[in-house]
Amino acid sequence: MDSHERMVVKLLVVWVLATDGLSTKPNPPWPGKACNESRLQWEVEICGEEFKQDMAHINPQHWCNLTHFMSEYHLFTLCTETKSHTVHCYWPNPLVESYIILVHKHFFSNCTMEHVVWVDPPDNTLTILIFIPIFLTMAMITLVVWCSKKSDILD
Ligand SMILES: *[C@@H]1O[C@H](CO)[C@@H](O)[C@H](O)[C@H]1NC(C)=O
Ligand SMILES: *[C@@H]1O[C@H](CO)[C@@H](O)[C@H](O)[C@H]1NC(C)=O
Ligand SMILES: *[C@@H]1O[C@H](CO)[C@@H](O)[C@H](O)[C@H]1NC(C)=O
Repeated sequence: MDSHERMVVKLLVVWVLATDGLSTKPNPPWPGKACNESRLQWEVEICGEEFKQDMAHINPQHWCNLTHFMSEYHLFTLCTETKSHTVHCYWPNPLVESYIILVHKHFFSNCTMEHVVWVDPPDNTLTILIFIPIFLTMAMITLVVWCSKKSDILD
């Protein structure tokens, strides 16, 4: 693995570890409106169905090659974000994250690290688009930790 690939793998590990930690915490409320989690669950499953249909158009032998499903994956991530906002939930949130992990397990369970082609970008923009949600997740985590520390001080 070159250093770029190692960085990407590290990011993913950090992301999964961090989100696992976060999912035990309650979802912060959307200002003024409550996050409707049962509706969110239903809405993200629609995103999942769309992603499944998109993936069905891709030869399963390419399912471990990010180059082949990058735009579909981006659409899926975008869909979960849009739906979260529709039902007044923060994005990313624990429910969406555990659903995304479920989808990962479904599609990428047979992909070993050597077989997963994380970095093979004919189009760097798409790589950036994929990693934006990951960076956002980490930024959210930092914010949540920072806010809870701050409220500890104020208490
Ligand atoms: C959440 O959404 C479901 C399905 O749309 C609805 O039946 C339920 O009343 C909503 N709950 C709240 C608290 O708004
Ligand atoms: C991944 O897909 C791209 C585009 O088709 C191809 O150029 C590349 O060789 C593939 N990588 C692997 C390891 O199959
Ligand atoms: C993973 O491999 C098993 C056994 O070969 C197969 O039954 C299953 O459909 C595969 N899953 C995916 C997502 O490719």
